[in-house]
Amino acid sequence: MKGPVLAVLVFLATRTLAQIQAPALPGAPLISSQDRIYTGDQTSNTVTVIKPSTNEVLGTIALGDQRLTDVLGPQYLQSINSHGLGFSRDGRYICSISVSSNTVTVIKTEDNSIISQTFADRAVHEGFFSADNRTVWVASRGTSRVDIIDGLNGGIIGNVSTKPGPSKVLFSQDGKLAYVNHIRSPTLDIIDVDKRQVVQTITGLADVFSSDMMLSADGKSVWVAHKMVGKVTVIDLQNRKVVTVLDTGTETNHPNFAVVNNITYGFVTVAALNETKVYRQDAPSLAPIYVGAIQSSGIEPHGLWPSPDNTRMYIVNEHSDTVDVADTATLKVIDTLNVGQEGQALIYVAEAVTSGSGTQNLGRQGLDMRIDNSLIPVLDQRNASALVTVRSSTGLDMVQVIGRNLQPNTTYEVSASCNNCNGIRVPLVSFTGQSNAMGCATAPQVLSFLKFHGVYDIDTVQVKRA
Ligand SMILES: *[C@@H]1O[C@H](CO)[C@@H](O)[C@H](O)[C@H]1NC(C)=O
Ligand SMILES: *[C@@H]1O[C@H](CO)[C@@H](O)[C@H](O)[C@H]1NC(C)=O
Ligand SMILES: *[C@@H]1O[C@H](CO)[C@@H](O)[C@H](O)[C@H]1NC(C)=O
Ligand SMILES: *[C@@H]1O[C@H](CO)[C@@H](O)[C@H](O)[C@H]1NC(C)=O
Ligand SMILES: *[C@@H]1O[C@H](CO)[C@@H](O)[C@H](O)[C@H]1NC(C)=O
Ligand SMILES: *[C@@H]1O[C@H](CO)[C@@H](O)[C@H](O)[C@H]1NC(C)=O
Repeated sequence: MKGPVLAVLVFLATRTLAQIQAPALPGAPLISSQDRIYTGDQTSNTVTVIKPSTNEVLGTIALGDQRLTDVLGPQYLQSINSHGLGFSRDGRYICSISVSSNTVTVIKTEDNSIISQTFADRAVHEGFFSADNRTVWVASRGTSRVDIIDGLNGGIIGNVSTKPGPSKVLFSQDGKLAYVNHIRSPTLDIIDVDKRQVVQTITGLADVFSSDMMLSADGKSVWVAHKMVGKVTVIDLQNRKVVTVLDTGTETNHPNFAVVNNITYGFVTVAALNETKVYRQDAPSLAPIYVGAIQSSGIEPHGLWPSPDNTRMYIVNEHSDTVDVADTATLKVIDTLNVGQEGQALIYVAEAVTSGSGTQNLGRQGLDMRIDNSLIPVLDQRNASALVTVRSSTGLDMVQVIGRNLQPNTTYEVSASCNNCNGIRVPLVSFTGQSNAMGCATAPQVLSFLKFHGVYDIDTVQVKRA
């Protein structure tokens, strides 16, 4: 009798040592009270911590001040623009990337404490822990290099040369290969991790600009998203070639995966449509087939990650400061949580907190702040529209405009009527669109800071040619 009992004990012991992180194949553990979800909140400069077993927002980790408080000051020393997120496979650490201060911050998931902070290369964007659960490989968009950081002690300990503008790094399941996409090259680099060298470059991606990409749970497929042209390049990693390009839609953000009823589905957030498109892919070498979409409760869905049991997809709405909890079987949003301001990346970490409440070192920075949106036509300009977003920030409000289908080389002016001003319009900000591949122009991120709430009514905002 002793043999089988021992075998079961050994099995249980190894199971608890090796966590299964999402996206995972069927059979991974159910959502647990030890799991956590994190969002990178650019405007509040925080990481929001969520407990998925109860869909509770536990609080935020502040990486510095909110936008425009002290960050422009000459004596400011902390991080700016909390953006990218990655994690170690053992669930003990996350890495947070601050794009404007070039900071890589490693946080211990057990108690949310910052254990190392490295000031890295120009415009670091996304990074991930390699399979050693210690080194963080970070893509530095302003260079042609991935920097390798010691996550525990901090500091750059190596680098790998890549094509220009590396944007994100992911690792194969066995940890032997790393994959890198770019913002200035229509290619995917495949790196030998031990040699720290690119061993193959897959060419022919749909665009030179790719912010995000994701590996399927079996590691055989990578979907590379192209925000500027609204497409996704689907790559078969077994044959190392492009399978197809999906026309996903304007402002395509992040891809991720879930396996439901033994079928692999790719999920792609399409910000301008306020939806996450869903495609089934029957084999890595086959073109995915569109099956439907998850309607967001809010505006501009961005980062997303499934639970390891494949039942839920968590999607951050960048312009609503919320996270939607979607059911992968029904493709419906079943809960919505209020998080920090302007969420970018979102990750799900299984077994992040193995003892205690995991609520140490959390605050409320960026939570429960006012946000208003208005989607309006651009006056006298057929088909052009503008999404106007107004957020409360410390001291001033942030007025953000996304202009779509604009005329190239044309200047537009945003104006609004102030309260009790008898209809008098006040100009708030002007901008010129950037020409795109489709022959029109867009203005992806017009930013201005002013006192808006209590002074202007968002329903009076107009955008027209200057
Ligand atoms: C990293 O963590 C994973 C998941 O727990 C584990 O399987 C792996 O052995 C760890 N790697 C090292 C080098 O400790
Ligand atoms: C990159 O690493 C090489 C050694 O592998 C080193 O000589 C070089 O200085 C590093 N470059 C940067 C910019 O750190
Ligand atoms: C799941 O699908 C794979 C092929 O994609 C097949 O080989 C396998 O038998 C299926 N498993 C079940 C339980 O249906
Ligand atoms: C989401 O986007 C669609 C398409 O642009 C738009 O029709 C809809 O009004 C938006 N939803 C919200 C809540 O703004
Ligand atoms: C209007 O914009 C949409 C994309 O948002 C595009 O598909 C359509 O062709 C445009 N129509 C005209 C008349 O420009
Ligand atoms: C916009 O201006 C640039 C620079 O002056 C010029 O090269 C380009 O041809 C113009 N585009 C259009 C569509 O007029």
